[in-house]
Amino acid sequence: MSTPPIPSSPILFHAPKLSQDLWLTALRDALSPRSVVTWEAVEDPVAIDTLISAREVAEVLPHLPNLRTLVNLTAGIDYLVPLEIPESVAVHRLIDAGMGAQMAEYALHWAIHFQRDFDRYSATTRAGVWTRLTYRPPGDLHCGVLGLGVLGTQVAERLRDAGFSVSGWSRSPRIVSGVQCLSGAESLERFLSETEILVNLLPGTAETRGILNGARLDGLPKGAVVINLGRGSTLLLDDLLNRLDAGHLRAAVLDVTDPEPPPSGHPVWTHPRVFLTPHVSAQTQIGPAVAVVAEIIAAKERGEEGVGRVSDLTRGY
Ligand code: NAP
Ligand code: GLV
Repeated sequence: MSTPPIPSSPILFHAPKLSQDLWLTALRDALSPRSVVTWEAVEDPVAIDTLISAREVAEVLPHLPNLRTLVNLTAGIDYLVPLEIPESVAVHRLIDAGMGAQMAEYALHWAIHFQRDFDRYSATTRAGVWTRLTYRPPGDLHCGVLGLGVLGTQVAERLRDAGFSVSGWSRSPRIVSGVQCLSGAESLERFLSETEILVNLLPGTAETRGILNGARLDGLPKGAVVINLGRGSTLLLDDLLNRLDAGHLRAAVLDVTDPEPPPSGHPVWTHPRVFLTPHVSAQTQIGPAVAVVAEIIAAKERGEEGVGRVSDLTRGY
């Protein structure tokens, strides 16, 4: 069988907030002999059929009438949904690309933080109090992972391997060994009622917007912790702060907020029981991400679909 010819058109890389030198070098190494150019170097936008981009897709999309493939350098695609990308464009998102391990590490760190009462010791020792709390082994604490996709599954497995009791919740039924898997709206209340450490890895969609509202937070056991790693839009911050101040929730870890960053002066910046990080729980890393991009583009050149194809953009993830 003859190999299809390598397309002659350059691949457009448009992600101005990423380090241009590092990304271009890595992409050119991996995608050679295809050339990779930035927007400033595009001579004929009509010839561009492949775009590698992050959150700035909208800046170039209207100028690319013959675009066929968009490789998105993030796992979440919420910001692509409003762009009305034509159906003729195959949209790909990053599947794992090194993010699962980072996410699992981040979640495990915080699960142990609360299991070992480091938050409480920090408060007591700062107040000059030398007192010991009873040790609780991880198996005595129940972690619940909202979203059992590529990242949520790895988080659930890592917590399970560390000895925590773990359940997970998703839209459709999933099987993860050693993890109690629940699915569908009807099981959410039960899932929350058993969860002492909630790790949210739901995508930001119309359906998940505000899913963690006051009523659902009230459904968590008293003293529960909320760790939001998915999208800020899923969690109502005012409701969260109310439950923290009322003593229903023990603490919150927020890697994502809505908006991002939170407005200046917003209480989440300084609340003593909110731990805030700037959307870093799983960052896109050049090496693994470029390897996935190269795999997708090579698959396209063989006439195959390639990994991470988003089958229905309107679903939102
Ligand atoms: P994924 O593989 O698409 O998994 C999404 C999971 O959420 C699936 O289990 C899905 O259910 C579930 N889900 C979606 N909508 C739902 C609904 N309405 N009700 C119940 N479950 C629902 O995505 P991923 O690669 O794991 O990434 C998850 C999210 O993490 C991304 O969308 C992004 O927002 C976020 N993220 C954050 C960072 C960060 O640094 N903070 C980094 C990367 C990603 P099904 O299994 O039934 O489809
Ligand atoms: C980061 O938030 C991502 O979606 O990859």
